[in-house]
Amino acid sequence: MLENLLKGKRGIITGALNSSSIAWKVAEKAHAAGATFTLSNAPIALRMGEIKSLAEQTNSEIIPADATNMDEIAALYQKSMDFLGGKIDFVLHSIGMSMNVRKNISYDSLNYDFWAKTLDISAMSLHKMLAVAKKLDAISEWGSVVTLSYIAAQRSYPFYNDMAEAKAMLESIVRSFGYHFAREKKIRINSISQSPTKTTAGSGIKGFSEFYEFADANSPLGNASADSCADFCLALFSDLTRMVTMQNLYHDGGYSTTGVSYEVMQKFLGQ
Ligand SMILES: NC(=O)c1ccc[n+]([C@@H]2O[C@H](COP(=O)([O-])OP(=O)(O)OC[C@H]3O[C@@H](n4cnc5c(N)ncnc54)[C@H](O)[C@@H]3O)[C@@H](O)[C@H]2O)c1
Repeated sequence: MLENLLKGKRGIITGALNSSSIAWKVAEKAHAAGATFTLSNAPIALRMGEIKSLAEQTNSEIIPADATNMDEIAALYQKSMDFLGGKIDFVLHSIGMSMNVRKNISYDSLNYDFWAKTLDISAMSLHKMLAVAKKLDAISEWGSVVTLSYIAAQRSYPFYNDMAEAKAMLESIVRSFGYHFAREKKIRINSISQSPTKTTAGSGIKGFSEFYEFADANSPLGNASADSCADFCLALFSDLTRMVTMQNLYHDGGYSTTGVSYEVMQKFLGQ
């Protein structure tokens, strides 16, 4: 049954940079589940070329688009509909970037030009992708849009820097646009709040490896992998979750509702 979970569905998958990317795993699994889709990333990321092997493996077309540019997003939808032969049933928004994080600038001395760019790339790009889709009527009824978030939208994580505001805004867009799209087009929009995951974006954060170990120890099921995140994305793209919308769904092995685990306590008890 799972092989046919997305049979006949057409999608757009953004953000596959290399084989560690969450979007890469989503593409592999969506292909195995019978979906057809296009792959998109910022032109500069595509220059690295790794995505070509994924496109070959999944019989998909690569369409460059900077997710902050409305014209490039419009071309992405148009070309995707031409290539796939109809409206889009699912969209994965798997995009994030902060120059403040990259340059290791601390939260109390953020560069505001960088911050504006962080919000544009990591949050407003979702709004732009939804607004363009609405204008072009590019997403089918009961279609599903999924984006990826992090718990720093709700709680303070000193190393997460200006990405915390970006994720808070992203989750707000999920609710706000989710309302309009549900009323008018029966389209679902949800965010998955994912465990720390060893990808290019994740590993760029200062102290990531140590925090990864902490989160793993403080999650009753351990950290959720990119692979299991991809499974969850497929469930949300599928018809099995038709009434789920406007939600921020934790996919974190129980981390978000754990105060402290025995494993973490033991480190302080000297055991
Ligand atoms: N890795 C983690 O620990 C973690 C945890 C929770 C949420 N997330 C989120 O998951 C999503 C995917 O990240 P990932 O961890 O797979 O890392 P990744 O680095 O593989 O993916 C990030 C992608 O964003 C793309 N991107 C950046 N600027 C862009 C632009 N202007 N236009 C289009 N694409 C652009 C990059 O090229 C890259 O492919 C991000 O939103 C990230 O914040 C990651």
